[in-house]
Amino acid sequence: MKENEQINSQLVVDYTHEGLGVIKYGNFPIFVKYATKDQVIDLKITNLKKNYGFGEIVNVHTESPSSVKAECQFYERCGGCDIMHINYDSQLDLKQSILKNTLNKQGIEFSHIEIEKSDNPFKYRNNVIYSFLFDDKLKQVQKGYYKKSTHQVQEIETCMLQSDVANNVANKVVELLNMMESYEAYRKNLKRLQIKYSFKRNEIMIVFITKNTKIMSSPYLVEKLVEAFPEIKSINTVSDTAQKNIYKQDFIIEEILDIEYQIPVQSFFQVNTLEVEKQFSYVLENLNINNKKILDLYCGSAMISLLVAKKAKHVVGVEKDIRAIKLAKKNLVANKIENIELINSDVKDYYFKKSDFDLMIVDPPRKGLSANIIEQISAYKIPEIIYISCNPASLARDLKAIEGQYKIEQMKIFDLFSQTHHMEVVCKLKLR
Ligand SMILES: C[S@@+](CC[C@H](N)C(=O)[O-])C[C@H]1O[C@@H](n2cnc3c(N)ncnc32)[C@H](O)[C@@H]1O
Repeated sequence: MKENEQINSQLVVDYTHEGLGVIKYGNFPIFVKYATKDQVIDLKITNLKKNYGFGEIVNVHTESPSSVKAECQFYERCGGCDIMHINYDSQLDLKQSILKNTLNKQGIEFSHIEIEKSDNPFKYRNNVIYSFLFDDKLKQVQKGYYKKSTHQVQEIETCMLQSDVANNVANKVVELLNMMESYEAYRKNLKRLQIKYSFKRNEIMIVFITKNTKIMSSPYLVEKLVEAFPEIKSINTVSDTAQKNIYKQDFIIEEILDIEYQIPVQSFFQVNTLEVEKQFSYVLENLNINNKKILDLYCGSAMISLLVAKKAKHVVGVEKDIRAIKLAKKNLVANKIENIELINSDVKDYYFKKSDFDLMIVDPPRKGLSANIIEQISAYKIPEIIYISCNPASLARDLKAIEGQYKIEQMKIFDLFSQTHHMEVVCKLKLR
């Protein structure tokens, strides 16, 4: 077998954990972009390694019942979505089997992995960052996303993961920039365009990411944008060294369950507001938090701490990002909640005492839990743990490390990232 060689009539037998179709040529696995399980395809080998290869579809002989025509016209050119060619129910099956296989590889058997279907598999994101494309001949600008694994920007008119209003605002920004005389000035300075949207409050924030914060402070641009979209509550410029508010305020407000959150210019906020609300309801329904002492590790801007604090005795949140901690403090005041203590620390430097907590909630970044936390969990035997994970591989590794002491009671996937292979998992653990 050689690169560029064509292989005909191959059955797609499975998916990789990134959603690529798998064919077995003899025993040799080839991973094929946009291939759907049960299709029979002709493919071209695009990259050959010692133990596996990559390919692309040349021709489909037999269609799969799981195939669907991707609804987005930019799908195969854009690096954003990667499983839009698989129908939604099969996307959910794929996520369940990715999680199950990842757990099995660590020797963890758990047969009741549930999955919550998203009510909005499109138009769900509350945050988008576009890059710009400049046409120096026409002195025109366009916006787009990076093509997968490249620094090339692909023009995107409408992103199907964004709300209609965010798409319309982004297109209006481009239209207005192209009507302005100052092409040379923004050509040199404009890097990216970010739009944030609060679904519950219907508020829009625009952020121009620039080299120089002065450049986008055009009264014309602001006036025309606000005139067209009264939902705009915040316009800002951000450079590597400075942040400047150029319209109204430097935040928008969102609500999750009955808690109000400020979303500032620069901060982490879960991208799928409506589904994360379902995820947090599930956490609250399945935990007895009444009067408990709760530790919320990797607490960000205290979203989870705030949700549990009303019923808990006391909550301690630990987070290393000082901006998130400052924001968390504002959120505490806005929601009149006083029983949360916030600690600005790297979790790897955080040590607690055995009797301090009844319940622990962890929501780490993709790399999973710090080693010292695994040690403390094993040593201190906190009765219950909720582990929220966006990465099955690190979740499985961490569960393996504590499986002697903790048994998995519940595990549920929330489809916060439909049309992509990513998932969010909530896992409830009980001391054995
Ligand atoms: C997945 S987010 C969860 C945030 C929060 N639970 C929420 O739902 O908004 C992970 C958070 O962990 C923080 N973080 C990452 N590494 C950390 C570390 N070593 N120590 C403390 N916090 C960390 C990040 O800044 C981020 O806020």
